Amino acid sequence: MVVSAREEASKIGVEILKKGGNAFDAMMATELALAVSYPSAGNIGGGGFMIFRKNDGSIGALDYREKAPIKSSRDMFLDDKGKIVDELSTSGGLSVGVPGTIAGVFEAHQKYGSLELHEIFEPVIELAEKGVKITTKQKKRIDENRKYFRKINKSVIKFDKDFKENEIIKFPMLAKTLKKIMLNGKDEFYEGETAEKLVEFIRQNGGIITMDDLKTYKAIWREPIVFDYKNLRIISMSPPSSGGICINQIMSMIEPYEIKLFKHNSSEYIKLLVEAERRSFADRSHFLGDPDFIDIPTEKLLSKEYLTFRMKNFSFESPTKSDDIGYGKIDLIESNETTHYSIVDQYGNAIAATTTLNGTFGSKLYIQELGFFLNNEMDDFSIKPGYPNMYGLIGGEANKIEPGKRMLSSMSPTIVEKNNNLFMTLGTPGGSTIITSIVQTILNVHEFEMSMHEAVNSGRFHHQWKPDSIRIESNFFNNKIVKDLKISGYKIYDNGSIGRVDGILVRPDKTLEGGADERGDDKAFGF
Ligand code: DON
Repeated sequence: MVVSAREEASKIGVEILKKGGNAFDAMMATELALAVSYPSAGNIGGGGFMIFRKNDGSIGALDYREKAPIKSSRDMFLDDKGKIVDELSTSGGLSVGVPGTIAGVFEAHQKYGSLELHEIFEPVIELAEKGVKITTKQKKRIDENRKYFRKINKSVIKFDKDFKENEIIKFPMLAKTLKKIMLNGKDEFYEGETAEKLVEFIRQNGGIITMDDLKTYKAIWREPIVFDYKNLRIISMSPPSSGGICINQIMSMIEPYEIKLFKHNSSEYIKLLVEAERRSFADRSHFLGDPDFIDIPTEKLLSKEYLTFRMKNFSFESPTKSDDIGYGKIDLIESNETTHYSIVDQYGNAIAATTTLNGTFGSKLYIQELGFFLNNEMDDFSIKPGYPNMYGLIGGEANKIEPGKRMLSSMSPTIVEKNNNLFMTLGTPGGSTIITSIVQTILNVHEFEMSMHEAVNSGRFHHQWKPDSIRIESNFFNNKIVKDLKISGYKIYDNGSIGRVDGILVRPDKTLEGGADERGDDKAFGF
């Protein structure tokens, strides 16, 4: 089964499985097919993370996150007076991090894939040539962004058009680029003609990525974050994503409570989760960043003693003020558009992968000749410590810009085991809300006994320490609960829908149930 943001991508992933390919082959196909069919987030100009669990129980994590260019520097987005220059880190050439997606899919395929490259690439190239239908939701997203496409690009790009719903859009240039990558391998993207064209294009648009940046880019295998929650074992992404550590902290902080006794999305349940989230995000902003550049006190941050201590001042009566808690005291011995897909193959291997350009259509820079958008991932660094990024996340020194460093992420592809067997694979876009959406979806299935479909489609809420408010999808919550929370002293706001979770659940009879989020055009396919 494959669940992703687009029907076309899920179908191609499943075709690969039907041909006898495994989850890693299907990953490469699905990731590339999303770059064709879901260009606001699917990409070859961005990066991502993947968690796997093979049928023998072995697990791993792949980091194909973008990195900062060699010529980058800590204050590159500030003016002479130290003030943030508007939009410099979120659009145009300087906002682009060195892309990791092609390195990522090749690394996964080379290590664990089984099909020939052409068997995987050909259906994707065909999709790009034949084109994809523009859905109602996609049309809306394109229309909202046309003014930015015009502002950021030197010439009119193919997306700057008044598309009709269901109109077919073809991608001959992207097909050509993919063909070259199929024939010449990943070096085409990182050292070949494609690399040269990309570097020249970025330079013309004010960016600083060089051939050296591309040549030295590597996808990195990392140890995933693994922890127990009651009788589940949860496997999630390690730094440079904050996902695994924050999910571990939040779930450990709430573990002592009998969650089943709360009503789903009742004010007690919301208060408990929100207070755990607040504490975890405060730690995130101070301690987390790229582990190759900073020391993260992971063991301490995840220890039961520390987390019990952090929750000591929690009470159902009144909120803790974010200004009063800050990050935890640890003695250091010396981290809006993404997409997730989940795969379980017929052999029992599972994959969770989240990939992104960061903002919708990334930096909005579109390289016509090669046919793809470039990310604006540089904004995930703390461009000025203490100031919020696009997602309102406050970064600290740990996540400052340094050449070659990876920016801190919230992306949390996650796999869950129950009684040593595969139980779930899931993930979502949503910037900082990714973390809290994953926690709630796992709890929906495990504590509230929902199906995967119900779990991904029920209402969500989110707290990230600062701003000191609960974000909710108010159409899912009745007024009484909102009133209750306000009376207790919580501030509440609605900023539109939260995430699009795509997951697969292994049911007790071993059949698979796909959960595709109805907030998007997401689709599950299986056989
Ligand atoms: O890595 C991160 O945390 C962000 N760049 C993810 C962006 C995202 O999820 C946007 N989606 N709505």
